Amino acid sequence: MQTIDNNLLHPQVVLDPYSYYEVVRQNDPIYWNAQWDGWIFTSYEDVRNGFQDLRLSSERVRPSKGMGSEKKQEMSSTYAILSNWLVFNDPPKHTRLRMLMMKAFTPKAITKLLPNIEETANYLINEIRTKPEGNILQSYASILPIMVISDLLGVPKEDRNLIKKWSDDLMLLVFGAADVENRHEVAKQSMDEMVDYLKKIIQDRRVNPKDDLISALVQASEDQDQLTDDEVISTCTLLVFGGHETTTNLIANGLLAFHNNRDQLELLKEKPELINTAVDEILRYDGPSKAMVRVAKEDVVIRDKHIKTGDKILLVQASANRDPNAFERPNQFDITRNPNHHLGFGRGIHYCLGAPLAVQEGRIALAKFIEAFPNYQVLDEKVEWQPTFVNRGLKHLNVKLY
Ligand code: HEM
Repeated sequence: MQTIDNNLLHPQVVLDPYSYYEVVRQNDPIYWNAQWDGWIFTSYEDVRNGFQDLRLSSERVRPSKGMGSEKKQEMSSTYAILSNWLVFNDPPKHTRLRMLMMKAFTPKAITKLLPNIEETANYLINEIRTKPEGNILQSYASILPIMVISDLLGVPKEDRNLIKKWSDDLMLLVFGAADVENRHEVAKQSMDEMVDYLKKIIQDRRVNPKDDLISALVQASEDQDQLTDDEVISTCTLLVFGGHETTTNLIANGLLAFHNNRDQLELLKEKPELINTAVDEILRYDGPSKAMVRVAKEDVVIRDKHIKTGDKILLVQASANRDPNAFERPNQFDITRNPNHHLGFGRGIHYCLGAPLAVQEGRIALAKFIEAFPNYQVLDEKVEWQPTFVNRGLKHLNVKLY
């Protein structure tokens, strides 16, 4: 433990963040990590309060400290789009963007998608059924969310592969993939292409509105206020990104958790209705969102720690969700756990806007997969995780399908 003390990207921490953060939480639930150059919050109480503390800002999109001025200039258009993302804004801009977005992203719009999600899951299962084994992260878990978000936005079916590529490339920047050297260039190129593509669709929907989210965003208004074209573009890129990677990891992490906990898989097969509580338990036990960053807007004292204006803060959900002060038997995967007040979707004003959609997608995707392949076995002897400290996503999930 001593050698990895401050390195949040140490291979051992990436592999098993839970054991690492358990020790950290016991030692000091709010500690200064010199290597990451910020405060690490790990107890349930502090992480939950941190999400709700408006003195901690979400305005954190900025080029990294080491980036040269030429590169900063080159990346400025990409950072301009990201800085309009709801999730990276504080009130009042956040309040305005969220209100307008909620006009379009309604429970009705999500309910309307449910038959499509079922149909898409059935289609993908029939495709993968033709082979005895395969990497289902690629062929199932990552395809379903991109199809769903494309349907929701109203993007033509034939362009889904483009959307997926752009979203994957953007991830390199937003999640800060440590193992990809030219991540800035790759993300910029894809962001530019996505923006050009969306501009054309938005212009079309202004003239020919359809029954889709892009049309609804273009039309959404509140007290004579409307989203500008730039804001609609930013919002669409956020939805593609927010709706894709995280949901992929919910499905894949869930299938891995069931593989490693066969008793829970048997229980679900006996009582399929438990899929509802099972999805919440996956979000708690090994959820896609490992941690979220904030920046102190003013000097604050939390516990006995003096946090200064501008200090970075990491709210570690992966640790909070395993805190024994908040959950009984926290390291046990228990799909009957209810209530389950996990922090997998955050808390407070930034609480995940797509949570109802993600939960429905997760339920349908997992239930259909387990129904089709009730005895599936993960073949990877060693699972590999993406080396980032904010998300929890597998690199592959090779499975024998039977
Ligand atoms: C299992 C899947 C998902 C997880 C674990 C997840 C997690 C989160 C978390 C933790 C936040 C809070 C961020 C913060 O406090 O800084 C968030 C915000 C957000 N999520 Fe999700 N998300 C998921 C799926 C989705 C989907 C499917 C969509 C949309 C299609 C979506 C759209 C958003 C948006 C727009 C926000 C920003 C809300 C705001 O700032 O007010 N998410 N998500």
